[in-house]
Amino acid sequence: MKSVESEIKNLVLSEKYKLDISKLTNKQLKIKAKYLIDKIGFCVIENVIKNNIKDLILEIENAQKKIKNNTELFRKLLKKNTNEKFILNHPHLEVRMTKYRNRKSKLVNDIFWMPKFSKYLGKKTVTDVIKFILDDHIRIGQLHPKSSISKSSDGKKIVIKNDLFGLPRVRQGNLDVREWHTDWPHDPWGYGGKNKNENIGCLKDPFPDITLGIVVMHYLTDASKSGGTLVVPGSHKFGNSPRHGHISTILPIKGEHQIKAKAGSIFIQDTRLWHSSPVSEQTKKKKRVVVLSRWYPWWLQIDDYATKSRLNGVARPLSIKDLKKLPKDLRPYMDYLCNNFEAELQSSIINRTKINIKRSLKFFKQIK
Ligand SMILES: [Fe+2]
Repeated sequence: MKSVESEIKNLVLSEKYKLDISKLTNKQLKIKAKYLIDKIGFCVIENVIKNNIKDLILEIENAQKKIKNNTELFRKLLKKNTNEKFILNHPHLEVRMTKYRNRKSKLVNDIFWMPKFSKYLGKKTVTDVIKFILDDHIRIGQLHPKSSISKSSDGKKIVIKNDLFGLPRVRQGNLDVREWHTDWPHDPWGYGGKNKNENIGCLKDPFPDITLGIVVMHYLTDASKSGGTLVVPGSHKFGNSPRHGHISTILPIKGEHQIKAKAGSIFIQDTRLWHSSPVSEQTKKKKRVVVLSRWYPWWLQIDDYATKSRLNGVARPLSIKDLKKLPKDLRPYMDYLCNNFEAELQSSIINRTKINIKRSLKFFKQIK
C-alpha cells in the first residue's frame, strides 16, 4: 500500500503527470495518459494548442457574455410562461429543440458560441487518448467555459450562494477556500438534489473501479497558483466523493496539489477524482480562461433524466445546421445532440462486432 502512495507522490511532486504532445508518438501518448489516469486520476497534455491563443481567449470571453445574456433572456421568458412556439422563434434567443420529441427546447450548446475553439476540441491525438481510456465510440455530454471561485476583496470573506438548481456553491473566498467534488456521474448531489426535475442521478458508493467519464479542461491561460485546478492525487480510487457529507468540502485536504500548466495545455481527469476550482482574481492581466468538456462512452446514458430541465448544461442541443458548421472531426462526438438525429453506432463498434462474429464462426465450421 505504501508503495502505491509513494508512487503517486513521486509522479505528482516531480510533475511527471505532464506529457508533451509534441515529443511523444500517438501510441506513447495514449499509453502514458492511460497509465497516469489509472494511477493518479489525471494528467496534463502540453502543447495541444500552439497558435492563436489570444484569439481564442477573446472568443471565449465574448462567448461567456453571450451565454450569460442568452440564459438571462431565456429565464425571463420561462418565468412569464411564454409559449414554446414564441420561444423557438424569438429573434434574440438561441434555443434548440432536443433530440427527444416529447421534451421542450433547451439553450443551444455552448460550442455554438465558440467556432474558433471548436477547431481544437476534436483534435484526433486527444480524442484517441480518450477513446483508449473509455471506448471507441465517445460523446461529449457537457461543455462550457469555466470560471474560478472569485477572490474576495478583503481576502477573507467567504460567500456561499445557491446555484440555479438550489445547490450551495462557493462564489467568493480566500486562497484557502475549496469546493471539493467529483464530477457526474460520480456527483452525489446529482445537479438537482431533492428537485427531481433537475436531478440527473448519481452512482451509489462505493463507486465501481472503472473510468466512466473523462473531463477535459482546455487551459487558454497559464494554470499556476492563481488558475490551476486543485486535485487530490489518487482520490479516484477512494470509492466515494467529498460531497457525501462526512467531511468539509471547503477546507484544504492534506496531500492536495495545484496543477501547473502552460496556456495551450489540457488537463484530463477521471470523473471520480476529488478536485476543486481554484480561488483567483479576475483582472485584465491575471485572468483565467478555461473551457471544460465532459466525455462519456457510448454505453453511458447521458440525458435520460431531469427531462424537464430547460437550463442545465447536460446535452445542450444543436440543430443540424449548427452541426454542419462544426469541423468534421468534432461532429461524431456531438451529432447525438441534434433534433432529427437517428442514432447509429460508429464504424469502430460495428467493425469490432463483425470481427468477433467472424472469429467465432470458425469454430462452427470445425463442427461440420
Ligand atoms: Fe468538476
